[in-house]
Amino acid sequence: MTAKEKPAARPANPRFSSGPCTKIPGWNTSLLDSALVGRSHRSKEGKARLKYAIDLTREVLEVPEDYRIGIVPASDTGAVEMALWSLLGARGVDVLAWESFGKGWATDVVKQLKIKDVRVLEADYGELPDLSQVDFSRDVVFTWNGTTSGVKVPDGEWIAADREGLTICDATSAAFAQELDWPKLDVTTFSWQKVMGGEAQHGVIILSPRAVERLESYTPPWPLPKIFRLTKNGKLIEGIFRGETINTPSMLCVEDYIKALEWAREIGGLCALQARACMNAAAVNEWIENTDWVENLARDPETRSNTSVCLKLSEKAVEGLSEEQAAAIPKRMVALLEVEGVAYDIGAYRAAPPGLRIWCGSTVETEDVQALLPWLDWAYAVAREEVLSSS
Ligand SMILES: Cc1ncc(COP(=O)(O)O)c(C=O)c1O
Repeated sequence: MTAKEKPAARPANPRFSSGPCTKIPGWNTSLLDSALVGRSHRSKEGKARLKYAIDLTREVLEVPEDYRIGIVPASDTGAVEMALWSLLGARGVDVLAWESFGKGWATDVVKQLKIKDVRVLEADYGELPDLSQVDFSRDVVFTWNGTTSGVKVPDGEWIAADREGLTICDATSAAFAQELDWPKLDVTTFSWQKVMGGEAQHGVIILSPRAVERLESYTPPWPLPKIFRLTKNGKLIEGIFRGETINTPSMLCVEDYIKALEWAREIGGLCALQARACMNAAAVNEWIENTDWVENLARDPETRSNTSVCLKLSEKAVEGLSEEQAAAIPKRMVALLEVEGVAYDIGAYRAAPPGLRIWCGSTVETEDVQALLPWLDWAYAVAREEVLSSS
């Protein structure tokens, strides 16, 4: 096969978007037939369905018994904002930011909440900030897996077990695919449309006993909108963590999330979910090793994501190209692959360096990743020639 000859096989499923991510294998709308539509979410049956989603989350994600799990409004963003607005201000804050979403949380802490004593520990795309600089006598806000750079924290070892501050962790593209170190996490958030391929709009917030203690002993100086409120008269609203949601959830989305969790349980739970993501990412990384035009954006292998795998052109590939040409190649590749029906939505995030991002989360099948890889070589060869001949 020459570089520009199309590979014979296409991925059976070309959905490699980093969110919403592809649905569980075999998904179809009949799975939602059992959804409690047209009924009140506050009926006995409605509450039971929501409680079941919470219980299954605890089981599949292996959340400790003494941690509370709540379904909250406005997806992962809602869950993170709820935590920032409800908990911060009691002490100094360290915010870690190494890609777009972490940078967004840093902006909120500095510019919206206007907390005075803030340190923002930053790193560029592809890198992690120096984790040894984090001061755990302060509250610490970080993203477990930086979706837009494909850089994750290696583990929870760097987090002090005897910390005085709280850790607030946006784990939306890590939860279910990476090992979350629960004793080190006080607030953990995620949304359903990432690793579980659920429908979007609902967030999950998981609180450690220490987070609950802060909520019950500290009142922030700013007003809190109703959808952020986790306490009433200084006490945690326990109902939220039994499925009595703050406002109305979609019972279709709840059912869809339940079906994804049931699938996860059937295939072997957390371990199986993690293994699937690792196999997918390993397929991409092995191909990168043998391909001279591409590199993993995450420099240190220990920090490479197994969900949002981000690629950039290698130094060799960009040699002699202008910045515009180098940026045009991955853009053109994305367009070519979409037209071929081989890969959808694999362009780098709009604020990230030019490149590709291939979602390798647990709902993706490894054979689809494998079938995609020769197409990337094809698209690169075609796009490079086009870009060079048009400039
Ligand atoms: C790390 C991270 N945080 C937050 C978000 C926002 O998530 P949502 O759209 O569920 O609010 C995303 C979405 O991709 C993300 O990757």
